[in-house]
Amino acid sequence: MNIAFIGYGQVGAPLADHLQRLGHTVTLAARDPASAAVRQAQARNPALRALPPEAAVREAEVVFLATPFAANAQVVPPLAEALAGKVLVDCTNPVGPGLTHGLDNRSSGSQALQALAPKAAVVKAFSIYGFENFENNAYPGYGVKPAMLFCGDDAAAKQTVAALVAQLGWTPLDVGGLAQALHLEHMTLLWVRLVRAQGHSPNLVWAALTR
Ligand SMILES: NC(=O)c1ccc[n+]([C@@H]2O[C@H](COP(=O)([O-])OP(=O)(O)OC[C@H]3O[C@@H](n4cnc5c(N)ncnc54)[C@H](OP(=O)(O)O)[C@@H]3O)[C@@H](O)[C@H]2O)c1
Repeated sequence: MNIAFIGYGQVGAPLADHLQRLGHTVTLAARDPASAAVRQAQARNPALRALPPEAAVREAEVVFLATPFAANAQVVPPLAEALAGKVLVDCTNPVGPGLTHGLDNRSSGSQALQALAPKAAVVKAFSIYGFENFENNAYPGYGVKPAMLFCGDDAAAKQTVAALVAQLGWTPLDVGGLAQALHLEHMTLLWVRLVRAQGHSPNLVWAALTR
């Protein structure tokens, strides 16, 4: 599958690396192909390609967005046409002062993103845990894989994302439509408060148990 990354920092770089090693063609949507971030990502995995953002997005079937949430309003609109018909994986989180919800709990960042790219199929995923768990999601000693919760309004797009989630070693858990993203964003805040503020392990993840 052709996958592009807009943003390849702490979150995007490990996901891009792992997906390329799984056999996907992964392209960095590079506003500056000579930037430190591009060089670092390619030093880590020389098979990562870099193309200008519009070309990278046009070639891709799936586009990961892993930018600071505040940048989305600047980054996404110029790519909105190129994103038409693509699966847009929203890894971003709107975080406000004091680890609060950055959109005042009223609606989700993912719905705001969908409005910026109305012809893309936005799926929120890879957002609820810290980047440490995207670097390494092996939790030896447990008989279950950790859960990756995701949501979106487009069933086919969610199937595509579920397959990538599973390939990356997570148990995919579809939690519903894009309106559920608000609750995933609160899960993120819970994780961030537990780990970054209260000192729990950054390797803390959740599993879904059923019977
Ligand atoms: N850090 C975590 O543990 C974590 C976990 C889950 C989700 N998230 C969410 O994931 C997103 C990325 O977080 P991160 O920690 O990976 O951030 P990061 O390490 O700072 O990386 C951000 C990436 O976005 C790019 N970027 C920034 N401004 C941009 C712009 N205006 N146009 C195009 N690209 C731009 C940066 O490129 P340059 O390097 O060229 O500036 C960089 O590649 C955030 O929304 C965050 O809330 C973070």
